[in-house]
Amino acid sequence: MSLSLENAAQVARYPAAAPYVRLNAAAGAVTLEPGALTTDGAHIAAFDSDVSATRRIDCAGAAIVPGFVDCHTHLPFAGWRAEEYAMKVAGRPYEEIASAGGGIASSARAFAETSDDDVLVQARTLAREMLAHGTTSFETKSGYGLSVEAERRALRLAAALAAEVPQTVRSTALLAHAVPPGMTADAWLDAIAPVAAEGDVTALDIYVESVAFDLQHLARMGDLARANGRDLRAHVEQFSTMRSVPVALKHGARSVDHLACLHPDDLGPLAAAECAAVLLPGAELLGDEQVAPGRALADAGAIGVIATDCNPGTSPITSLPLIAGLAVRRYGWTPREALIAMTLNAAWVLRLHDDLGSLEVGKRADVVILDAPLEHLPYRFGHNPVAIVIAGGEVVHVREDQAWRLG
Ligand code: NIG
Ligand code: FE
Repeated sequence: MSLSLENAAQVARYPAAAPYVRLNAAAGAVTLEPGALTTDGAHIAAFDSDVSATRRIDCAGAAIVPGFVDCHTHLPFAGWRAEEYAMKVAGRPYEEIASAGGGIASSARAFAETSDDDVLVQARTLAREMLAHGTTSFETKSGYGLSVEAERRALRLAAALAAEVPQTVRSTALLAHAVPPGMTADAWLDAIAPVAAEGDVTALDIYVESVAFDLQHLARMGDLARANGRDLRAHVEQFSTMRSVPVALKHGARSVDHLACLHPDDLGPLAAAECAAVLLPGAELLGDEQVAPGRALADAGAIGVIATDCNPGTSPITSLPLIAGLAVRRYGWTPREALIAMTLNAAWVLRLHDDLGSLEVGKRADVVILDAPLEHLPYRFGHNPVAIVIAGGEVVHVREDQAWRLG
């Protein structure tokens, strides 16, 4: 099977073999010129058209960009929490909802009460929705288990999901998401430590916040990650300034995620480090959180990333184009910066950058054809600009009104 994607208004070209692009270099790093792209089997073969290809696709007026990488989601989970959103909109803070038995604990109860099959039905549906919005790789997280066996079950269901979807999936064990009722945080970290060594897991994650874990626990998770050959990732500075970033950097974190309440003194060291700043503007908007200093991080040269944070509590969002629209408006990012942040830089967070995340000969043919030039992606806020999705050289999604492109 080979594809010839022809006559595009823009083809996004990234620097060769770059693991990531620091956002202060975004303007010169990615070019958007008219052109074409061909695939051979699962890989990108050339930046040319090929009349002998198995299938030719007309990209008139369109942009050819890399498949999107959603490096921070909480799939798989069970059910939703719409009633909490109504409370938040009425002015009740997240911490208060969580302390009253809502939040993560309520999703943990739902997870315990839902069969494996039903959890997978929901996760599959969300993965399908993500695919239709251009996401060809994503992260799963455990974290709604809150018992050792339930965390193992979450990781097992994440692996089952990974095996059946067309996307490339990487698993994170969010072993410290909330302190189970009746336990101390330290006792929970003792209990969960053996799970850190199990399964095909790329990273360990922890939620550092007054309602969850503290800086000492973050350091412990860092040690656990290093001892087990996992990356350290951390939910930090979401609702309050805990000064988690220096601790995360000291422990060699691959990413720090959220950062709405980042301390100004921590911005420079983070931007200079080989640690991604994963911003989650959907959670910020829907949770009425502060806005992360996205512009300042980009200007200081951070490895800037955006993701959906898809979860039933703070961000029930599956669309990376929507997230890009928010990043452009709220951080003052360019469409190029947003594109880099949801492709190559996000792939680096998941250690997928050698295989995918940019359009390069020899890389996996994960390609999105947008229905318009890239500038429309943030501008037509709420519109799904994804016309065709190609994963591993296969056409895996065609938006109904875009079928004409296939001839
Ligand atoms: O990324 N803040 C911690 N974890 C999630 C929310 C989890 C939940 O509310 O279910 C987040 O925002
Ligand atoms: Fe999260």
